[in-house]
Amino acid sequence: MAPLNFSEVVGSASSSKKLINLLRGWPNTSLLPTHLVEKGSRAVFQSTSLSNPALLYGQDPGDPKLRRNLASWFTSFYQPPEPVTDERITITGGASQNLACLLQVFTDPVYTRNVWIVSPAYMLAFRIFEDSALKLRAVPEDEDGIDIEYLKQEMRKCEEKASTQGNNHTPIKPPRPWSKIYRHVIYAVPTFSNPSFKTMTLKRREELVRLAREYDALIITDDVYDFLQWPSSLTAQTLSVKKAILPRIVDVDRYLDGGAERDGSDGYGNAASNGSFSKICGPGLRTGWCEGTAKLAHGVSQTGSSRSGGAPSQLAATFLAETLESGELQSHVYDTLQPAYGKRYRKMVSAINQHLIPLGVRLPQTGRDFVGGYFIWLTLPSPLKGAVVTQRAKDEENVVVAQGEIFEVPGDTERAGTHFEDALRLCFAWEDEEMLAEGIERLARVIRTLQDEQRKGLLVMDRKIAAGLPAGPLSGANIAGACEVNCTSMQRTSGQGSDKKGQQGRGPQRPIGQNRILSQFKHEGSACKLPPHQTKILQ
Ligand SMILES: Cc1ncc(COP(=O)(O)O)c(C=O)c1O
Repeated sequence: MAPLNFSEVVGSASSSKKLINLLRGWPNTSLLPTHLVEKGSRAVFQSTSLSNPALLYGQDPGDPKLRRNLASWFTSFYQPPEPVTDERITITGGASQNLACLLQVFTDPVYTRNVWIVSPAYMLAFRIFEDSALKLRAVPEDEDGIDIEYLKQEMRKCEEKASTQGNNHTPIKPPRPWSKIYRHVIYAVPTFSNPSFKTMTLKRREELVRLAREYDALIITDDVYDFLQWPSSLTAQTLSVKKAILPRIVDVDRYLDGGAERDGSDGYGNAASNGSFSKICGPGLRTGWCEGTAKLAHGVSQTGSSRSGGAPSQLAATFLAETLESGELQSHVYDTLQPAYGKRYRKMVSAINQHLIPLGVRLPQTGRDFVGGYFIWLTLPSPLKGAVVTQRAKDEENVVVAQGEIFEVPGDTERAGTHFEDALRLCFAWEDEEMLAEGIERLARVIRTLQDEQRKGLLVMDRKIAAGLPAGPLSGANIAGACEVNCTSMQRTSGQGSDKKGQQGRGPQRPIGQNRILSQFKHEGSACKLPPHQTKILQ
């Protein structure tokens, strides 16, 4: 089979304009430190004392040199009251792989009640939770991060319901000396979130840790963007910051109110930090780390698949250990990545300020001193819908963005703050830097056109006529119809998202819209019904 050509997959087939991809959450190839990985590999292969262990089975918690070097970097970056020790760290196959391992070791499909997911959420985590047969619940965010009152109230209700129904099952997994089963899981990306771009305040982090302790919850945080930070001011002189702006939730848990290993506790703690080399080096390395208490780090290293052969990504881990040992990866992060992403961010935000804010588009958490990560979250002016803007942007301007609904927690979208039909996520990491401002200008043209059409009542009629429906005004409630019409062209031109069941039910002449795909995505129990190439590009 011929390799998939990305531009054919997501761009407009008929546009004469160059594709601008603000959807793909990957690092631009110019930012891959190929020379560092190559140098690290050379160091390993020049010495049999390094290359033999690199090519053999490794230790369960992973390459010792990498653990040591990570511990020392985290001590200087996060500056916790006491140094990070290597016994707190286990090497992983990246944040996604380790999320699965944490769930395998520390949850039970019967005993663990829910995964509480800060929403909007990194959508590729949904299937990982479903693989462990856990029930997904959405928790809204406000301007300070997770809505802690909502979570508190829902956890309390959940426990009350369980006890009134006598539903206090014992785990179906056997007890094992290296692990425990938590009653709840909370999943968050507290710093420079994908997708919401928000950072959770310290107060919320502390409240969350206290709540997790009260309800026996494990907070799993994907801390994959922490190192990619810069001042939010568009005129700041420097774009590099060598110290974390806030302690991670795992650090808060380590020290708050006597800490994770306080008297009377079981010593596992209530937080696990999932880190990754994907965003600071290269996602193809498939290498990351997990930090928690020594007991928790040991527990996750005892996942069955790590017991058979040692931690994943052993060879890559040895290369990375060398890049940290020399300090070159840290310098790459501070001297290359932070300024480069900071510059990209400035270009995009300047264009947003100039072209989108005047149209009524809103950004979250505008008062912050530091920002970072890969993504910006936009709320559209009413009554525009992300699905419509996304499709028209692709068809008319050949610019691709992610619509907010993709980041909704499957099966829990009814409550306020858990559905995102009026939102878009933009990525400034992948597209060529010189195209970022133009991407925003094109998006502004689409939004202006839609607003004009809406004012004149044309948006509605055009869409309905194209759909073969009787013309007439379209309310906010049935704007999904407009999306379906728009999305028709997506399927015709790119061949994506075929839905055999839908096609049979509706006849071959009636193409399936993206909103159908999304509703499957949300309600059919499987988190990612999108074809693999579509879900991958959304990272
Ligand atoms: C929040 C979040 N978690 C996890 C990942 C994936 O990390 P990894 O490549 O280490 O599996 C991403 C990548 O986009 C992400 O944004």
